[in-house]
Amino acid sequence: EKGGYDHFMMKEIYEQPNVIKDTYRGRLHANEGLIKMAGIEDNIDKFINAQRILIVACGTSWHAGLVAEYIFEEFARIPVEVEYASEFRYRNPIIGDKDVLIAISQSGETADTLAAIKLAKEKGAFVFGVCNVVGSSISRETHAGAYTHAGPEIGVASTKAFTTQITVLTMIALRLAKAKGTLSISDYHRYLSELETIPEKVSEALHTNDSAKAIATVFKDATNFLYLGRGYNFPVALEGALKLKEISYIHAEGYPAAEMKHGPIALIDEQMPVVVIAPKQGHYDKVVSNIQEIKSRSGKIIAVVTKGDEQVRALADHVIEIPETSDAMSPLLTTIPLQLLSYHIAVMRGCNVDQPRNLAKSVTVE
Ligand code: F6R
Repeated sequence: EKGGYDHFMMKEIYEQPNVIKDTYRGRLHANEGLIKMAGIEDNIDKFINAQRILIVACGTSWHAGLVAEYIFEEFARIPVEVEYASEFRYRNPIIGDKDVLIAISQSGETADTLAAIKLAKEKGAFVFGVCNVVGSSISRETHAGAYTHAGPEIGVASTKAFTTQITVLTMIALRLAKAKGTLSISDYHRYLSELETIPEKVSEALHTNDSAKAIATVFKDATNFLYLGRGYNFPVALEGALKLKEISYIHAEGYPAAEMKHGPIALIDEQMPVVVIAPKQGHYDKVVSNIQEIKSRSGKIIAVVTKGDEQVRALADHVIEIPETSDAMSPLLTTIPLQLLSYHIAVMRGCNVDQPRNLAKSVTVE
């Protein structure tokens, strides 16, 4: 049942190239320049005329929402706010019939997300679901939606749900960009073709398994970790830290790299591993200067870089190379080595990776 892997989590990490393909199959038609998603086509006016898109979710799904915020705003130029469902539901939120609410949930059963949907509906918003479990409560409670076709996710730590959520949300953003004319025709086509190559690049990113494992042996006894990223990869830093916390019980924090100097830099000494997401596309030079700041304080740098990178390699203690892609699609690749790193550290510490203590796969109570 684990397909030859020791744990469901590893099986699910390795399923990502295939499930991302399953998620875009029949929807993404790069050659024809088309994205076809029934839930979007049927409601395209609601999206185009939305004065704002609100995204609500919890945990890893909330991180996918943060990535989507950057993508929607960049591609479709629609203002987006991302909120924890648990906060949204209890703060008398300002939301009405000009707003679209997108709820993201792997299980489709998360109590806070479900309650946020009900509230948004009462206030007249159009509610769209991005769920994995077919027929789940959230998929039934929303006006329309798009499933991630990730297949059952058994490991409590979410992996393939995250990358397929980002895939669905990227397709929606591209469809809206086309309708609104907010991307140039050439960029639009370039992104469609790029998305089509992602499964292959994720396969290549899975080759980082050996380096992730080697790095895990060095840092498995650390008591703290910092994860830093900027732009599209800021949410990936949060997700990397969450993955490590939940399965290895090592304290970890994710930060936007530039925030480091506003506090967390005080934590850095020779004991502190800092995972920095530093792909070539993106705010590369800025991230390089953040890396220099960590180095000058003797922090141990583990950098996720684009294949062939030399500048960061010269500064970092360990590098993990991933294939090149556009800035907006890089989270689909940068996430992979971080999942693998957490996995190996947890296994080496003897933790139950598929069923971490105190956690449940569906959080059906608030
Ligand atoms: C993290 C994790 C949780 C879930 C969160 C939301 O690995 O599994 O943080 O992401 O409980 O769950 P769903 O997406 O089912 O609403």
